[in-house]
Amino acid sequence: MKNAFIPLAAALLAASFAGTAQGTEKISLLERKAPDVSSLPSGPYRDLVVLGQQLSTRAFAHIGPEVKDPAKRFAGNNLACTSCHQAEAAKPFAMPWVGVAAVFPQYRAREDDISTVEKRVNGCMQRSMNGRALPLESREMKAFVAYISFLSQGVPGGAALEGAAPSRPGFPTGVPIPKPAASCMPPSAPRATAPKDRACAPDVPATRRVTPSRRCGARTASTREQG
Ligand code: HEC
Repeated sequence: MKNAFIPLAAALLAASFAGTAQGTEKISLLERKAPDVSSLPSGPYRDLVVLGQQLSTRAFAHIGPEVKDPAKRFAGNNLACTSCHQAEAAKPFAMPWVGVAAVFPQYRAREDDISTVEKRVNGCMQRSMNGRALPLESREMKAFVAYISFLSQGVPGGAALEGAAPSRPGFPTGVPIPKPAASCMPPSAPRATAPKDRACAPDVPATRRVTPSRRCGARTASTREQG
């Protein structure tokens, strides 16, 4: 009787290693604590990561359509990245940036092209932020990439992440890529022009929407304004 369990145990063991052999280690973002910027020693790297975090939570104050320097007006709306990428872009199932650095550069069959983290940032700059692409050599782009790679530290390349964006590899094909709610506005952003009650949740398929949708920037503008 006892021996009946041996093939089962062997099969389970093989199954659990199969993923690792293909480089698809499974990590759940629900159980993982996001790295804390304050743990970094002071210096230019920390400064860049902190700028990336600030740009994410208060994009409108740095690269928004109403900033003083016209050359810095990259975004066409007053959203923050964290209007959609909640909890400083670390919240599971809210398209977290945790692990993004581990999946790029990435081959995209649809475009037959290599996508990079910078291209993903500029994809959101142009669509979600309704603006123009950040130059690759700009300090803002470097800051976003530094913050994304900081959030991704410890996540191995090719890992399958539970709680990551649906557009990541590892998701079943045929799942529609959610359409960003480009025209929604944070209620407390300066001179918002869009209807204030418009929900900011991206149009994620119902099966993926595990967290209740929240209003644009509800957290962003109020908690970050003082800092
Ligand atoms: C209006 C909502 C919205 C805003 C604002 C927004 N994004 Fe996104 N972002 C999305 C959606 C939806 C996706 C996933 C779907 C896709 O691939 O287009 C995404 C995906 C991403 C990804 C890839 C994530 C992954 O797991 O592959 C990055 C990086 C990113 N956004 C960066 C940014 C940056 C930087 C900003 C601010 C400058 C920003 N986003 C603002 C909605 C938004």
